[in-house]
Amino acid sequence: MIIAVTGTPGVGKTTVSKLLAQKLGYEYVSLKDYAMEKGIGEMKGDELEVEVDELAYNFERDFKGKNVVVDGHLSHFLNADLVVVLRAHPKLIGERLTERGYSREKVGENVEAELVDVILVEALEENENVVEVDTTGKTPEEVVNEILELIEKGVRRRVGVVDWSRVYDDVIPYLRL
Ligand SMILES: Nc1ncnc2c1ncn2[C@@H]1O[C@H](COP(=O)(O)OP(=O)(O)OP(=O)(O)O)[C@@H](O)[C@H]1O
Ligand SMILES: [Mg+2]
Repeated sequence: MIIAVTGTPGVGKTTVSKLLAQKLGYEYVSLKDYAMEKGIGEMKGDELEVEVDELAYNFERDFKGKNVVVDGHLSHFLNADLVVVLRAHPKLIGERLTERGYSREKVGENVEAELVDVILVEALEENENVVEVDTTGKTPEEVVNEILELIEKGVRRRVGVVDWSRVYDDVIPYLRL
């Protein structure tokens, strides 16, 4: 099956996807690397801009019927059997992206996206089978075990596990107000 792991930049997609793929014995695919290999999209500054329909079309042709964990903040636009939306306290997103040297603008944009569930909403528009996992205060191993348990139990939908509106005050310094 095709498992798409998505979420706000810095939420832990790559870390979790690689470990999940390893534990399941699935192929790991970075969607960004795949797009670049296939020459889908173009670089705009330091960001790759892709046409999601073209990406989904190519991915389907190359991976349909295979067992893969696909990692990327656009992976919920693919025709996946299960979409895992990773969540993290927006303050963690702010801290991680600041540490990576992202601009204040870019950090703010992503903290705000996590705060108001942007990726979750997009994923729900695209796919019935969406499970959310809160990574806050958990190790990558714990997160992966939680995903494995959901898969084993056949859970295909579990949303509404976080509500960052309650922590709004903690992230005001990161917001572009
Ligand atoms: N429970 C957790 N799950 C995943 N990552 C975690 C967790 N706790 C801490 N981390 C750390 O958070 C960071 C997440 O980085 P990672 O590159 O995996 O994020 P990403 O979502 O792939 O980012 P990007 O969108 O930029 O590719 C890593 O340094 C990882 O060790
Ligand atoms: Mg990544």
